Amino acid sequence: MQILNIYILAIETSCDDTSCAVLNGDRLISQITATQKIHEQYGGVVPELASRDHQKNILPVVDLALKKAGILLSDLSAIAITRGPGLMGSLLVGLSFAKSLSIALQIPLIEVNHMQAHVLAHFIKDNDNKASPPFPFICLTLSGGHTQLIKVNSYFDFDLIGETIDDAIGEAFDKAAKILGLSYPGGPIIDTLAKKGNKTRFKFSNSKISGYNYSFSGIKTSFLYFIQNESKKNPLFTKENIEDICASYQSHLITTVLLNAKRLLVETGIKHFAIAGGVSSNSELRQQVGLLNDELDIKTYILNNEYCTDNAAMIGITGYYKYVNKQFSDLGITPLARMNL
Ligand code: KG4
Ligand code: ZN
Repeated sequence: MQILNIYILAIETSCDDTSCAVLNGDRLISQITATQKIHEQYGGVVPELASRDHQKNILPVVDLALKKAGILLSDLSAIAITRGPGLMGSLLVGLSFAKSLSIALQIPLIEVNHMQAHVLAHFIKDNDNKASPPFPFICLTLSGGHTQLIKVNSYFDFDLIGETIDDAIGEAFDKAAKILGLSYPGGPIIDTLAKKGNKTRFKFSNSKISGYNYSFSGIKTSFLYFIQNESKKNPLFTKENIEDICASYQSHLITTVLLNAKRLLVETGIKHFAIAGGVSSNSELRQQVGLLNDELDIKTYILNNEYCTDNAAMIGITGYYKYVNKQFSDLGITPLARMNL
């Protein structure tokens, strides 16, 4: 059911992106995102600096998103906001702002789980008119803080089948980049360098985990030892081989993370497979997932890059489906650094 006269303002501030989107029903009509550059020099997100930047950015970002959408505050039907999981200070900025707006405009506040939103990004409608997956489907959500293998039964009925027991795959990219002397976030930089490299040149070991769970901390440590050992033999090792190192490491991570997903697809017989989260913009992953259409005789769903990394449009589409179900939030809610699916 599409409700056309509904305008949702969505705000996402869970980590280091201040993002605001306006949706008309399930259709995205504007999105503005301010990505914080300040963390690059520190090799990771500095929570205190992230909160300060959100404070600075939130008003202009919301203002611009409304202007681009061509609507007024008085046209809004509800405010959708990320409640968690994420950095406490960052979440607080967005949630406090959203509460104030909800009180001032006397419209409902809708809390959104950031990890649910990454999955529901597949239902955002825009000019590309990409197909959304039918239920049930399997979704592999790969981000800087999470690695989740999920059976999605309906918009709000998710079975978490597997997840990481330590580091997320995004961290495995970012920490390796730091070891290589690259800046933050390292995932996209490794992806770019890998394009010119030989992915079969170096081999890395895997951690054996039972069931459908993942572990990436061992892979990251073996990568550190590999670089340290090779650099003892040749101090210029990293510099001379950076493209092959990135291609081999990236290919290893992507092949590893897809193993459980493939097994689950075969075991359940589910024919629809989606990927989501920041790491789902990785080109090696997108290529390997594309091959599964023929290999497993399934249909795969890959998001446009703008809906992979953190964005308010995914908060907006989740907010829209909650609005339709009248799932509104109490103004007394507080942010949750951890939040189950
Ligand atoms: O979903 P996201 O924007 O934020 C979280 O919710 O964590 O994901 C951020 C993560 C970072 O670890 C970043 O390095 C990774 O996504 N990432 C990538 C690529 N683009 C972003 N990793 C590998 N290849 C990429 N192209
Ligand atoms: Zn995210």
